Amino acid sequence: MDKFLIKGHKPLRGLVEVGGSKNAALPILTATLLGDSPSIIHNVPDLLDVQTMLSVLASLGVKVDKVDARSYRIDPTLLSKAEAPYELIRKMRASFLVVGPLISCLGRAQVPLPGGCAIGSRPVDLHLKGFSQLGVKVSMHSGYVEAWAESLHGGQVYLDFPSVGATENILMLASSIEEETVITNAAREPEIADLSRFLSLMGADIQGAGTDTIVVRGKKKLLGNEYTIMNDRIEAGTFCVAAAITGGEVEIRGVDSFLILSVLNKLEETGARVTKLGNDRILISMLEQPRPVTIKTMPYPGFPTDMQAQFMSLLCLADGVSVITETVFENRFAHVGELERMGAQIQVEGRSAVVLGVEKLTGAEVRATDLRAGAALVLAGLAAEMETLVYGVSHIDRGYEGIESKLKKLGASIERLAE
Ligand code: UD1
Repeated sequence: MDKFLIKGHKPLRGLVEVGGSKNAALPILTATLLGDSPSIIHNVPDLLDVQTMLSVLASLGVKVDKVDARSYRIDPTLLSKAEAPYELIRKMRASFLVVGPLISCLGRAQVPLPGGCAIGSRPVDLHLKGFSQLGVKVSMHSGYVEAWAESLHGGQVYLDFPSVGATENILMLASSIEEETVITNAAREPEIADLSRFLSLMGADIQGAGTDTIVVRGKKKLLGNEYTIMNDRIEAGTFCVAAAITGGEVEIRGVDSFLILSVLNKLEETGARVTKLGNDRILISMLEQPRPVTIKTMPYPGFPTDMQAQFMSLLCLADGVSVITETVFENRFAHVGELERMGAQIQVEGRSAVVLGVEKLTGAEVRATDLRAGAALVLAGLAAEMETLVYGVSHIDRGYEGIESKLKKLGASIERLAE
């Protein structure tokens, strides 16, 4: 596993381009299984999680060809296996997204209960309850989920919580059923709208994706298509915080500012200057010590849980006390102990963290335990005095493509070393 050596305390300046969205790429790659013919997907980010998903598809018999650096041709016509291997699924929770397409294409799926980031228990009960409304039977044994359907039908699915993955899995299955399915209390994340645009191109009739009620009228025969994945709003948000935490000035290109409104508003509250330069260009600068703020993570369009850790790094340097409440995941404060090693003062009380701002952070040896915690430690290292060593970089590689080269272009001193 690699580590990053960061020599911090330098303002970042310049321009950074955002890449394709991980959280849109993963479901869209699995949705290609539903096609009767190959699909070509563009703007696929080069990430560990994407490689894992492509390996899952290949393990099912699907032909995956790299067309160019960011494009893949996926031919699902040889899809033959309904069992996904444990060693791939345990690496990444999102691999559970193959279940909806597998039931649709092969009538059954047998998949290990998923693993993924260590950010709390992440069950799949909502996926399974939704499937059962559409005629799917489910049994669990020896750590595996087995799901099968003799005949699928449309239905009314109510999600107890607007789970992103459950919405996507049910949306994919419903897209292949020639009756109406209504998903209520659906997740509203922009990546769901992106998945829905692809499924619509394949032939499904989907209304309301991106709202809390999605109405789907599927087609038995969906056709492969060509699609360009949206850009990554969390990568964009992370670079916004990088600009602010280093007291720099960075233009972030390739993100619709509307999709990160909650993040930009919070940044402004901390004292950062946010200037919209165009449809997909934002300039972030920070000229003062950050002001403390209150943050509560929520499903979209609320403040994203995937930006919580990065904001905590920024608020460690605020002029006062901030409170961050995590409502989406139950155990997403693994970065707290590591930030404390750098001089941060944070107290966790249940789902809230009280962050008492300090004047400076000091470099230390720290370990990334999950993707966004890793990003937060890199940001803290960029702002800290002296050297920071961030171990566990493979967690960061799951979701940020070439983060060190993008940061270097902005003037950061960051090197990747073999651990
Ligand atoms: C997706 C994102 C992840 C993001 C998260 C929340 C992808 C690949 N990942 O993850 O980056 O942090 O949304 O925005 O898109 N839950 C249940 N039962 C279920 C499903 C979920 O209780 O069947 C709970 C989870 O334990 C968690 C909460 O719902 O506490 C949110 O999970 P969910 O929205 O499903 O997140 P993911 O789809 O796993």
